Amino acid sequence: MHYYTYKNDILHCEDVPLPEIARNVGTPFYLYSTATLTRHFKAFDGAFEGIPHITCFAVKSCSNLAILRLFANMGGGADIVSGGELFRALEAGIDPKRIVYSGVGKTEEELRYGLQAGILQFNVESEQELFKLQDVAASLKSVAPVSFRVNPDVDPKTHAYISTGLAQNKFGIAIADAERIYRNAAAMPNIHVQGVSCHIGSQLTKISPFVESLHKLKLFVGCLQESGIEISYLDLGGGLGITYGEEEPPHPQTYGDAIKKEMEGLHCTLILEPGRVIVGNAGILVAKVLYTKAGVKNFIVVDAAMNDLARPSLYNAYHAIQPVIGNRQEKMIADVVGPICETGDFLAKDKELPAFQPNDLLALMSAGAYGFTMSSNYNSRPRVAEVLVNGNGYHVIRQRETHEHLIAGESIPEYLIES
Ligand code: LLP
Repeated sequence: MHYYTYKNDILHCEDVPLPEIARNVGTPFYLYSTATLTRHFKAFDGAFEGIPHITCFAVKSCSNLAILRLFANMGGGADIVSGGELFRALEAGIDPKRIVYSGVGKTEEELRYGLQAGILQFNVESEQELFKLQDVAASLKSVAPVSFRVNPDVDPKTHAYISTGLAQNKFGIAIADAERIYRNAAAMPNIHVQGVSCHIGSQLTKISPFVESLHKLKLFVGCLQESGIEISYLDLGGGLGITYGEEEPPHPQTYGDAIKKEMEGLHCTLILEPGRVIVGNAGILVAKVLYTKAGVKNFIVVDAAMNDLARPSLYNAYHAIQPVIGNRQEKMIADVVGPICETGDFLAKDKELPAFQPNDLLALMSAGAYGFTMSSNYNSRPRVAEVLVNGNGYHVIRQRETHEHLIAGESIPEYLIES
C-alpha cells in the first residue's frame, strides 16, 4: 500500500502532482512519501507488539538523514554496516542504544567509533574480529556489547547476490564453531556477550526460511544457556520482500505472528533489521524522456541511468514504469535506457509501455530501497536530488549534486602543471 495515485490522469505523491516537483527540482529525482514511510514503519513495528523488540532500520537501504529522523521519531533504531552509516544515524538523532553494527569487515577505527558512541551491540562475524574488538575495547577501557552473527545454513530462495545465510556465503560464523567462540568470548575481560544474530538474505517472499533459521537460533540459545551464557538479544536481521511486479510476499503482520509464535519461551529482546519492506514501495525515481529510437527494437532514452538506479543492470531487477501523465492510450514494446555508454545501462527491457514521447515524465516504481544509496557518479553524472513529500507539501532532502561536487577532493600534482 502506497500513496502514489492518479488524480485527473496526473500521478500524485500524496497530494502533490509530480509535474510540479519536476518543474521546480528538475529531473531525475528520487521521491519519497512521508505517509507511506510512516505507514510501513508502523505496520512492521506494530506486527511485533506484545513482545520486547527493537526495529533497527537497515540504513544501507535508504540513508537520507530526513528519512532516518522520521523513523527515529517513531522509536526506530538503526542497523548499520560502516562508520559512515553510524555517523548518519547519530546525525539523524537515532539513539545509540538502538543501533546495531553488522558487517564482515569492520575496521579498527570503525570499532572504536562504535564503542565511543555507545551503540547497543556489535554483530561480530569472525573470531579475528572478536580479538580486534577486545583489543580496541581494552585500549578504551570499555566493554564491548557483543552478539555473534551465526550462519544458520538456510536457503532463503532469493537472488544469489543477496542470499547470505548459506554455509557457502561469506557471512557469519557456522553454528558448529559458534559455541566454542561464545565460550572464549565470555571469558574476555572487555567483551560482554549478550546476543545471537543472523541475516539470511534479502527480498524473501516466504516466511518458512525465517522460521527455520529462528528455530535453529532458538536451539542454539538453549545450548548456550546450558553452558551458563545468558543471551538477552536475538537479532533476526532483515529480508522481508516486497511486490515489485508479481511477487506476493507475506504481510508484515503474518511475518510478525509467525516470529512471535517461534519466540515463545525465549526471554530475549527481539531485534529486527528491515530495510526494503519499509522504504521500497515508499520511493520512486522520476525521469524524463530525452529521445525515442525505433528500429529492430524500440528504445526510450531517459535522463536517468544505471548510475542512478543500479538494480536492473546489477540484478536484472524489475521496476514497473508508470507514466506521470496517464492518458496516453497508444502502447509500444520498448527498452528504457539511460545515457551511459554501456549496453548494460537499462532500466527496463522489452516492456509494454505507453508510447512515450520526448519530454514525457515517467516514474520507476518501488525504487525507495537500494535506489539512491547504490547510485554513483559513473560517467561523471552528478547524483540526483532526493525529495520528500508530506501531504500537500514537499522538501528537497538532498540537493542535486553539481559539477563542482564531482571534482571536490581531487587535485592535480604540481609536476603535471606546466608553467
Ligand atoms: N541486515 C543485514 C545484516 C543486511 O545485510 C541487510 C541487507 C539488511 C539487514 C536489510 O535487508 P532488507 O530488509 O532490506 O532485505 N542491494 C540489494 C539488497 C542488498 C541487501 C544487503 N543486506 C538490492 O538492491 O536488492
